[in-house]
Amino acid sequence: MGDLVENREWYVAAYCPEGVPTSDHLKLRTVSLSLASDSIPDNHLAVETLLLSVDPFLRGTITGTVEGLFISQFQLDQVLTTFAVVRVIRSKDSKYSVGDLLLNGYGLVAEYSIVPSSHIIRKIDTSNGISLSDYLGSLGVPGFAAWLGIEVLGDPKPGSNVFISAASGAVGMNAGQLAKIRGCRVIGSTGSDDKVNLIKEQFGYDDGFNYNTESDFDAALSKYFPDGIDVYLDNVGGKMLEAVLNHVNMNARIPLCGMISQYNKVWTERDGVRNLLNMVGKEVRMEGFMIKSYLHRFGDFVKDMEGYLQEGKIKPKSKINIGIESFLESLNSIFSSSNIGKVVVQVKT
Ligand SMILES: NC(=O)c1ccc[n+]([C@@H]2O[C@H](COP(=O)([O-])OP(=O)(O)OC[C@H]3O[C@@H](n4cnc5c(N)ncnc54)[C@H](OP(=O)(O)O)[C@@H]3O)[C@@H](O)[C@H]2O)c1
Repeated sequence: MGDLVENREWYVAAYCPEGVPTSDHLKLRTVSLSLASDSIPDNHLAVETLLLSVDPFLRGTITGTVEGLFISQFQLDQVLTTFAVVRVIRSKDSKYSVGDLLLNGYGLVAEYSIVPSSHIIRKIDTSNGISLSDYLGSLGVPGFAAWLGIEVLGDPKPGSNVFISAASGAVGMNAGQLAKIRGCRVIGSTGSDDKVNLIKEQFGYDDGFNYNTESDFDAALSKYFPDGIDVYLDNVGGKMLEAVLNHVNMNARIPLCGMISQYNKVWTERDGVRNLLNMVGKEVRMEGFMIKSYLHRFGDFVKDMEGYLQEGKIKPKSKINIGIESFLESLNSIFSSSNIGKVVVQVKT
């Protein structure tokens, strides 16, 4: 490889306060990048990107306001960052060698980059049988969120009734399987009949329903939870959260992982939840959480999850889209429900 590369990268051209981001908001451009040794500062690495994680939180970074998820915003013209699997091309840090595969917590959405080694979360050992895409799924942001929601905040007991929305997505597939490992009865909601079959057949859910064909969420929850809900991991918010509050048991827990049904609306257009009063009498604990506040638990999570993956107790699924040019389409697939499992963009092999 020469010292100068033509590097494609996705950057923010305009903020997108509502609706789904388009090519007016996120654009792909080609820039020249020097990978020459004297262009790499000490304690930095020149890397090529193999895989990029496509996550709903990215939507919140380009609204132009921190309201809602309170995520800091990318600047206009700034290149997006996300979790990434990268390979070292040149190293100015003795801890890392050329050819090392690394998990980068601030991976530029670009083919090549020069990164401070402080952004590296871990080295990836390919000899353990875990696929590279799973480092962005079950062992990445969504797996960690699922683990926090079930193991730390939801903490269901064996036999508890657990409900998980967006059950076939990256968080949902891991959360359902973690709750099954705990011996719970687990029901999921998702956006198509095929996905309902998938969560039962591949992810081990006891049952599930298609929220697009159930016109009455209250009636659906009565049917699937005759004994009420003990833990609800909320990924969607809105009308589903409201319906759940009519079915909670005493001391139910509701970890609020995300509210994807509300992300593309300005706050005055979002659904209100009218029955919060049910939380009082049932002494329900509803708690929002962000993975960044639990980084001290990341090591415990990795130990658990690597074990489950190697033992085959958690069976992940990824949707791998090829080519950096597919990044915008991949992000939008999360909102059109055309994704399944963890969405990843493969930039290089
Ligand atoms: N708190 C944290 O630190 C943290 C970390 C990671 C993720 N999260 C949150 O966790 C949730 C799931 O994330 P993920 O990574 O699993 O996403 P994902 O794999 O990309 O899946 C998101 C899924 O949400 C469903 N969905 C989309 N629009 C919807 C709508 N209007 N109503 C209901 N469902 C809709 C779609 O599946 P269907 O076919 O089921 O519609 C889609 O597959 C998101 O809310 C995300 O923001 C939070």
